[in-house]
Amino acid sequence: MKIAPSILAADFAALGEAIARVETAGADQLHVDVMDGHFVPNLTIGPPVIECIKKRTRLPLDVHLMIEEPERYIETYVRAGADFVTVHVEACPHLQRTLTQIREAGARAGVALNPSTLPGVVEYVLDDLDLILVMSVNPGFGGQSFIPTTYAKLRELRALVGSRNTLLSVDGGVSPANAALLAQAGAGVLVAGSAIFGAPDTAEAVRALRNASEVPN
Ligand code: DX5
Ligand code: ZN
Repeated sequence: MKIAPSILAADFAALGEAIARVETAGADQLHVDVMDGHFVPNLTIGPPVIECIKKRTRLPLDVHLMIEEPERYIETYVRAGADFVTVHVEACPHLQRTLTQIREAGARAGVALNPSTLPGVVEYVLDDLDLILVMSVNPGFGGQSFIPTTYAKLRELRALVGSRNTLLSVDGGVSPANAALLAQAGAGVLVAGSAIFGAPDTAEAVRALRNASEVPN
């Protein structure tokens, strides 16, 4: 299981220290939430901050674009240091083209699915993507409650993906309480914001999430 702390829940005024703590604690990649105030009702950070983060960590940057018309900004995010660029299927009328654009720009291509989006939307682009991000909350904010229909969606996606080594990632309300069930349903990456940066001991929280995901339920 890969653990991807979402910096949305970190103290933005002390981001460098927060990142160093999760890196030392053994996080596998860093999840960076980009919001535009249109696709989702919130605003966060953009390329200049990602550039600064890139200089401070060796962890792969998993950049989750919750923005409209993401195809306009892909090269900019890759230049800023994104290793994975994930776009929302709901924001991409030409999804196959956008995924190809991400790979051609030199990053790994991800697709995010809102909770109400059917898993089958990725069926004909499975060979064009590296990561599927299953939203287990409606995107826009950290600290929301996990939506349990996520388990069934993960199982369906796991079956669709078959023998490909596509990463199946879950984002929203992930905690040690649901990590084992998420692992059983087929998740390979757990994205967690408040469960990690909201905990009194960040390093311990990374370990707790990993341990919980490895214990069969
Ligand atoms: C939500 C973001 C998530 C968020 C998760 O729109 O995509 O990455 O940070 O936060 P928690 O883990 O607190 O639900
Ligand atoms: Zn996210």
